[in-house]
Order: sequence, then structure tokens, then C-alpha cells
Amino acid sequence: MTRYSKVIGTGAYLPPNIRTNEQISETVDTSDSWIYERTGIKSRRIAGPNESAASMAEIAARLALDAANCDANSIDLIIVATGTPDRVYPSTGCLLQQRLEIKNCVAFDIQAACSGSIFALSIADQYIKSGAAKTVLIVGTEICSRIVDWSDRSTCILFGDGAGAVLLSASNEAGILSTHIHSDGEYEDLLYCPNPQVATDLNKHETGVINMRGNEVFKVAVNTLGKIVDETLEANNMDKSDIDWLVPHQANIRIIMATAKKLKMSMDQVVVTLENQGNTSSASVLIAFNEAVRDGRIQRGQVVLLEAFGAGFTWGSALLKY
Ligand code: COA
Repeated sequence: MTRYSKVIGTGAYLPPNIRTNEQISETVDTSDSWIYERTGIKSRRIAGPNESAASMAEIAARLALDAANCDANSIDLIIVATGTPDRVYPSTGCLLQQRLEIKNCVAFDIQAACSGSIFALSIADQYIKSGAAKTVLIVGTEICSRIVDWSDRSTCILFGDGAGAVLLSASNEAGILSTHIHSDGEYEDLLYCPNPQVATDLNKHETGVINMRGNEVFKVAVNTLGKIVDETLEANNMDKSDIDWLVPHQANIRIIMATAKKLKMSMDQVVVTLENQGNTSSASVLIAFNEAVRDGRIQRGQVVLLEAFGAGFTWGSALLKY
């Protein structure tokens, strides 16, 4: 009998503090209309001074556990995707394990920038399918606001903070149908965030903020996400019309619309959260997935395509039967 990874619970957390386009336009030369037209973003959430990737992850994780009616101690693997960990080490996964008071599980972080949650889903699925794990908690959690240069109008308008979680369990019922992940390190210069603490003589002048050549990133993202859609459908011998929901990474509404068009999907079948959240990097797909599960749009038995693209470049998809 096939062993699947089935979603048994989802959760998300967004910090209450809102930063609008109007507020940003008070400090850099931009406007609400420019930002909204080019990105689809109106506002984003900003974590409070006492919040961290781990504290936000805990809230999202507890909501996913509650939704699944699952005790934290039944988790045997935690995978946290983050580019803004609380500490270099221990991993945010271990900090989350401590917060959830789980004594006996494996916990680690993965770093795949905005594709982190998709990479985590892929890893979790391999563990579950192979029998190495039964219950896996995945969290994407990011405090992008602390690695953004708030004087750079081309990046500070895009990002926001938040955490999304999903709990997977081994099941005989269909769950994750396939995952597809890719990396190409050639594109480092188009999107990167230095780590000044470990700088060499060559890059010690750099500060720890997001650097991006947005226009070039945009073009590669649209092209690559189109290809991953084809790859996913082909691997499952499925047609575009078999997909009920697209849950894309929330970077830019124009990138999302291009992928929906490729799938010949109406925007009514696409989960979009970026208007009031911006790009929450590795958290974005799981936050959007949670929203559509909780408001009843995504129903049990429906086919959902999750996809993301991020620094590296990294990109990937997960096709699942909810
Ligand atoms: N307000 C007003 N003008 C701005 C601006 C802002 N916030 N940011 C940039 N501009 C200006 C630029 O300086 C440039 O001016 P110039 O023509 O005088 O040189 C002009 O707008 C066009 O810049 P460009 O970068 O070509 O704009 P764009 O249409 O590509 O939009 C992004 C910029 C960042 C919104 C867009 O490229 C994007 O979303 N890229 C993808 C980013 C992404 O997804 N990153 C994460 C991947 S996970």
C-alpha cells in the first residue's frame, strides 16, 4: 500500500503591526499607486521588538497542532525554513522544539530563501514515504523587516514578516502526490543578503541587508515558474484542469498572474495574500495555504499546487491532494 504524507493541520501567525505603502512613502521616494500597480502590495506586517523567527514559529505551529488535534510529542521531525534565524546556532528548529517542549524528535533548519517551505515539504515527504518519520512539522518563519534596507525603495516595499506551519502525517490516503525542487547557484548576484559576521576581506564592506536586481529576478521567476508547472503536471500525468487551487509564493501579483495564465486558471482559483502581507519569503506559501484551508476555500479531496521561487536561485513545487 502506498504511504503518503497527508496534511493534518495548518497554522499561521502575522504580527499585528501594519506598515502601509503610505507610511513607506514618507521615508523613501515612492507612492502607494506605484507600489500597488507594480507589485499588488498595499501593506505588510512588521514583527514587534520582542518577536523572533522562533516565537512566531511557535504560534503558527501550535495552531497547526490544535487544528490536527495532535499532541506535540507525537512529532518526530521538525523542519524550519528560514533566512532570518534567531541564532546562527542552535537552529530555529531546535528553538522551536524547546518551545513546544518536545523531548524526543529531530529538528533542523533549511535555507532555500523564498522556496524554503517547498524544499521542507519535499524533504518531509521523503522521510515519511521512506518510513523514517511518521509525523512531521514544517514551519516557514521570517522577520524580513530586519534584513531590509529601509532606505532602498526597490526592496523595502516588497517584504513582510510572518510564519506559516503545516503538520504532515503518514497516511494510506492520497496526500502529497509529488514534489520538485531545483537550485542554480549561478544567480547569486541577482538576489542575496550578506552575513557580515563571517565576512572575508573581499566582502567585509557589505551590510546584512537584501540586495536585489528586481527586474532581472522578475524575468527569471516568471520563466522558471512556468517550467515547474509543466514538470509537475507531466510527472503526475495530469492536465491543467485537474488542479483545483494554485497556492503560489507571494512575491509579486504580476508573477502570480503569469503562472495562473500558464495554468489557464481563473484568479478565483489562486490564493493571493500579498496585498496585506507583502513577501514573507519562506513563510508565504504556508501562510496562504493556511488561509485558504481555514476559510473553507480548499476542501478535502481537492488538488492543490504549491510553488515558490527564491534566492539561489531556488524553485520548486508540491502537488497534493488535500
Ligand atoms: N517607487 C518608485 N519608483 C521605483 C521604486 C519605488 N518603490 N522602485 C524602483 N523604482 C524605479 C526604479 O528606480 C526605476 O527608475 P528609472 O527607470 O528611473 O531607473 C523604475 O522604477 C523601474 O525600475 P524596475 O526595477 O525596472 O521596476 P519593475 O517594474 O521591475 O518593478 C519590482 C520593480 C521590484 C517591483 C519588480 O522588479 C519585482 O517585483 N521583481 C521581482 C522581485 C521578487 O519577486 N523578488 C523576490 C523573489 S523571491
